Amino acid sequence: MNQQEKYFEAVAQIRKLMLRLIVVFLIMIAVIVHSLLAPDVFVLGNSPHEEPYAWVEEAMDDRIENGIHVRTGFVSDTGLMTVVANCTNCHSAKLVTQNRMSKERWRATIRWMQETQNLWDLGDKEAIILEYLASNYAPIQKGRRQNLEKIEWYVLE
Ligand code: HEC
Repeated sequence: MNQQEKYFEAVAQIRKLMLRLIVVFLIMIAVIVHSLLAPDVFVLGNSPHEEPYAWVEEAMDDRIENGIHVRTGFVSDTGLMTVVANCTNCHSAKLVTQNRMSKERWRATIRWMQETQNLWDLGDKEAIILEYLASNYAPIQKGRRQNLEKIEWYVLE
């Protein structure tokens, strides 16, 4: 290879390198422009059109629909918000609403949580809560099998 051939070789190499750089540069420009136009694309788990702090509004949403407090599923009645404020902190409201008890048993459940689960003293709120629970989550008598009556027992031999 003479001097001149070496020179052209070098020029060709440089041109190739430049072309590659330009391609990389164009890709970078495209990525930057894209991220400016759609800033959320690169944020994982964050959908682009979600309102910021939507979860705050959701947490404070106290809509009542068909007599049901939508956020918790509690029946809407006197004392609802006292119950929501004191009975949904540690467990789901479902744990409460899936139970049906007499006032005495609700009181006993609250005592049990106070003695073993760090439930706080409910003070004068307790009467409101018990009244709410006993009137909206009382045992359903009809759901149980009726007592057997007029049965003719026979003696096993
Ligand atoms: C300080 C936390 C805390 C608060 C506040 C609280 N609970 Fe509980 N509660 C618990 C824990 C812990 C359990 C047991 C959960 C489990 O077994 O998974 C429980 C269980 C229950 C159960 C199920 C009991 C059973 O025998 O299965 C009911 C019903 C209940 N809570 C009702 C209430 C009511 C009504 C209130 C409001 C007065 C309330 N909870 C507030 C901690 C709490």
